[in-house]
Amino acid sequence: MSTQALNGSNETIGEVQLECKDLGYSYSGSSFIFKDINLKTYTDELVAIVGPSGTGKSTLLRVLGNLIPPTTGHVFLNGTEVKSPSPKISLVHQSIATFPWMTAVDNVKIVLRGKIEDKEATEIAKNMIGLVGLRGYEESYPKEMSGGMRQRIAIARALAASPTIMLMDEPFVHLDELTANSLRSEIYSIVFNPVNELKSVVLVSHNLHEVVQLADRVYVMGGSPAGIIDEIKIDLPRPRSEEEPLFYEYVKMLYKDLMPKETK
Ligand SMILES: Nc1ncnc2c1ncn2[C@@H]1O[C@H](COP(=O)(O)OP(=O)(O)OP(=O)(O)O)[C@@H](O)[C@H]1O
Ligand SMILES: [Mg+2]
Repeated sequence: MSTQALNGSNETIGEVQLECKDLGYSYSGSSFIFKDINLKTYTDELVAIVGPSGTGKSTLLRVLGNLIPPTTGHVFLNGTEVKSPSPKISLVHQSIATFPWMTAVDNVKIVLRGKIEDKEATEIAKNMIGLVGLRGYEESYPKEMSGGMRQRIAIARALAASPTIMLMDEPFVHLDELTANSLRSEIYSIVFNPVNELKSVVLVSHNLHEVVQLADRVYVMGGSPAGIIDEIKIDLPRPRSEEEPLFYEYVKMLYKDLMPKETK
């Protein structure tokens, strides 16, 4: 399997950040959800994972984040094997997780508790809240915010821990379309803002337009047990526009990969 790009380019630049080798996972101890997963992320890359429901994308993210240990295979960060949850790898879930009894600043600061002085933690939290576009809402409570604002707080919290890698599991799926669109159009500059130490993002999504808008490279999962069945490099300039004819070519390419084989 080789990486395809519509303009024929196949170079990948930069250092490897997150890597997994021969990863497999079985909940039951017998039948594998996925097997032999090999993937890499490079510096300043947003990598998307797509695949039919139930192929194990969320499970794969949990294994990559070491929230659950792999049944087979290994996860490496900058060449060192990761064997327990690491603050260098943050996970943002599809369910918008904020603590209702805490202000925005306290919701973000929670990942820094006990690690640094409170004053410094407050400073970092305020900076991250500014970065996600919520300056002025530092002392607001989640109930005073919209779903989109709460998801921004969850992203600010994930960034406050200064992760190298951010894993995002369908982060826009519970937002209304307008809110999702505005967050989608900002997310790339938020996560790859030079104030962060973030080096790569892994995004799981079912929304192929979102994937073509955001990803540098896409891994397609499929089969049973699932594996990586294709890898596509999205070689489009940023900011990306749906008006660009190649945009739709990439959407079609992904769609074709995801269609059941017999109807291809
Ligand atoms: N805690 C669990 N215990 C046992 N089986 C599980 C558990 N969580 C998920 N599974 C099973 O593992 C498989 C993969 O689930 P997973 O949620 O990782 O898929 P997914 O690709 O993220 O699906 P979706 O696109 O619907 O979010 C499914 O068959 C699911 O039923
Ligand atoms: Mg899932």
